[in-house]
Amino acid sequence: MTQRRILVTAALPYANGPIHIGHLVEYIQTDIWVRYQKLAGNRCVFLCADDTHGTAIMIRARQEGRSEEQVIAEMQQRHERDFAGFEVGFDHYGSTNSPANRQLCGQIWQALRQKGMVSERAVTQLFDPVAGTFLADRFVKGTCPVCKAPDQYGDNCDRCSSTYGPHELIDPVSTLSGAKPELRQAAHLFVELERLHPFLDEWTRSADHLEPEVSNYLHGHFLNKPLRDWDVSRPQPYFGFEIPDSPGNCWYVWFDAPIGYMASTWEWCQRHGENFDLWWRDPGTEIHHFIGKDIMYFHTLFWPGMLHSAGLQLPTKVHVHGFLTVGGQKMSKRTGTFVKAETYLRHLDPAFLRYYYATKLSPSLNDLDLNLSEFASKVNSDLVGKVVNLASRTARFVKQTGLSATYPDDEALFARGAAAGDEIAAAYEACDFGRAMRLVMELADRANPYVESNAPWTLSKDPAQAGRLQDVCSVALNLFRQIVVYLSPVLPRLARQADELFGVPIRNWRDAASPLVGTPVATFQHMLQRIDPKDIQAMIEDSREKELDATSATPAAAGATTVPQDTEEALLAEPLQPTILIDDFAKVDLRVARVLAAEDVPDAKKLLKLTLSLGGEVRRTVFAGIKAAYKPEQLVGRLVVVVANLAPRQMKFGLSEGMIVAVGPGDKDVFLLGVDSGAKVGQRVH
Ligand code: MSP
Ligand code: ZN
Repeated sequence: MTQRRILVTAALPYANGPIHIGHLVEYIQTDIWVRYQKLAGNRCVFLCADDTHGTAIMIRARQEGRSEEQVIAEMQQRHERDFAGFEVGFDHYGSTNSPANRQLCGQIWQALRQKGMVSERAVTQLFDPVAGTFLADRFVKGTCPVCKAPDQYGDNCDRCSSTYGPHELIDPVSTLSGAKPELRQAAHLFVELERLHPFLDEWTRSADHLEPEVSNYLHGHFLNKPLRDWDVSRPQPYFGFEIPDSPGNCWYVWFDAPIGYMASTWEWCQRHGENFDLWWRDPGTEIHHFIGKDIMYFHTLFWPGMLHSAGLQLPTKVHVHGFLTVGGQKMSKRTGTFVKAETYLRHLDPAFLRYYYATKLSPSLNDLDLNLSEFASKVNSDLVGKVVNLASRTARFVKQTGLSATYPDDEALFARGAAAGDEIAAAYEACDFGRAMRLVMELADRANPYVESNAPWTLSKDPAQAGRLQDVCSVALNLFRQIVVYLSPVLPRLARQADELFGVPIRNWRDAASPLVGTPVATFQHMLQRIDPKDIQAMIEDSREKELDATSATPAAAGATTVPQDTEEALLAEPLQPTILIDDFAKVDLRVARVLAAEDVPDAKKLLKLTLSLGGEVRRTVFAGIKAAYKPEQLVGRLVVVVANLAPRQMKFGLSEGMIVAVGPGDKDVFLLGVDSGAKVGQRVH
C-alpha cells in the first residue's frame, strides 16, 4: 500500500468567542478523520489557527480597554486548552495575525493583481462619527423600512423578514456609540470573481471535490448567474493587515482567514524542517478542508478561485457538515443548551461527546441533533455496556497467567471482526462515522453473548476449568482490543488504556487483524464511567443565561429577573409547533374536572378507567394510559384537566369520552396537570 500525503484543516475558529459544543461537531469530526488516516499508515498533517481579524475583535478590545493583541492572545489560550481537553490533536495551531500570514497574503494579492483581477470602486456605507469607524450591518439598529418594527439590525428585520441595506433603516443608531451614523464614501478593492466562472463551474462539478449535495446547491444558487465581485478591503480603523499597495485599507478578514491554513502549514514546516512547497505546490499532496455549511461559499468559490489565480494546489475535497441542534432546537443560552467546551469539561467526559457525535456524523449536510437523553443512554449502553464490559469482566481472571499462548477456538469471532476491518475503514474514509460505529457495535453485539454463555465468573470458581477460563478470557480480551483498534480514532484515550492493559501499543489499523497471544495482562484500571444524567443536568444548569457575555446579552435578558427553569425542560425540549391563531386554540375545550372514581383495567397494560365530574350532572368516562405512574387511590378526589370536546373513541374496554392532559414521555414518567386551589370543577381553561 502506498502512503498518501494528506493535509487536513478544520475551519479557523473566530477569536471573539469561546469554543462551544456546536464548533466541536467539526473539530471532533476532523480529528477522527485525521486519526483514522494516521492509523491507516498515511502521512497526515492536521492544521488550524485562530481567526483573529475583523471589526468584532476591534470593538471588543475597545470595550475592554485592551489591545487587540491581548484579546486574541487570551482567547487563543482558551481555544487551545479546550481543544486539548477534547483530544483534538492539531499538529500545529497558529494565528491569522502572524508574520507568515501577512507575507502569504501579500504573495496571493500580488498574483491577483498581476492577473488583473482586482478593481477599485467607491462604496457608500454608514459611518459612526463618534467611534470613528465604518459600521458593519450588525452594528447598526433602527426601524424597519418595510413594517416599521423598531430595534432591527441593519441587514434584515426579525418581524417581517425583509432584507435591506443599513442606510435604508429609519432613525438608524450605531450600537457602538449610540451616535446617528452618517453616509460616507470610501474606495474599496474588489476581486472580480466572475472572471473565474468557467473554472469554478467545472471545479465544483467534480464529485471528488464536493458532495453532489454541495455541488447542486452552488449551481442552483450562485453559479447559475454571474458571480458578484468580492469586496476584500476595509478602510481603517480595522483590525487586520494593511494592504501594501493600498495604504489606509486592510484586507477584509475573509481574505486573510483561509490563507491562515497556509500560514499554519508554513509555521509547522519551519518547526519540523519540512518543505512548504511539498504541501501546497505538489499535486501529490491531498488537501482536505472540513467546514460547516454556513461558510460554504467562501471555501468552495472564493478560496478555490484565489488558489487557482495564485497557481497553488486546489483542495482535493471540501467536506461540509451541518449544524448542531440540541433537543431539536438551535442552541440557546436561555435554556442552557448553548454549552461551552469548558463548561462541558467541568461536568462530563469528552469521550462521551466524541462517541456520540461519531454515531451521528455522515458525509451529508444535514443538521445533527444532540438529544440529551439519547446521549446518555447510547454512551452507557454502547461504550460501557458493550465495549468496556468485555474487558472489565474478564481481565482480572488472566492477571496471573496472561493471554493463552495460542489463540483459542472462538467460533470465528475474531476472524469475522478482522474481516469487517475493510468495511469499517471505508466508512471512516468516506466520513460516514455513523456507519463505522454501527459496524463496530455489531462486533460488540456478537462478542458479548460469547462472554455471557461462557461465564468466566463461574469457570473461575472451579480450578479444573483454569485452562478454559484462560481461553475464554483471551478471546474476550482480544475481541475487546480489536474493537478498541476500530474505535481508536474516536476514542484515543480508550486506546491508550488498552495499550496499558496489554503492554502492546495500538499503532496501526492492522493491529485489529491479529490477536495477541501469550501477552501479560496488567491489573484492570477503570476505563469509562457511566454517564449520570444528573451531570448532564448540572451542565445545562451551568450553561444557562448567566454565562451570557456582554456581546450577546439583549437588554431584556440582562435586566429582567428570570425565573429559574426546570432543567428537564431543556432535556426533553421538542420542537415548537407552527403558530396558531387564538381561534384555533379556542376550538379545544379544556375543562377542570374531578376524579370521582378510578379503577384498574386488569387486561390493559397501561390503562386506568376514570369517572370524571365536569360539574353539575355532567359525567365522563375516560381511559387514561397512566397505570405505571398513578395508583387509583391517588387519583380519587383530585382535580385534573380534560379535553372535553374530543370525539369519543371506542376502545377494547369501553368508550373513552375525552382525554385528561398530562406531560412526559410515558410509562412511569407521566405527570397529570393540576390547577391551583380556588379553581372550580367545570371551569374552562383559557
Ligand atoms: N472564522 C470562520 C472560519 C474561517 S475558516 C478560514 C468561522 N468561525 S466560527 O468560529 O464561527 O466557526 C468555526 C467552524 O465551526 C465553522 O466551520 C462553523 O460552521 C462551525 N460551527 C459553528 N457553530 C456550529 C454549530 N452550531 N454546529 C456545527 N458547526 C458549527 O466561521
Ligand atoms: Zn420589518
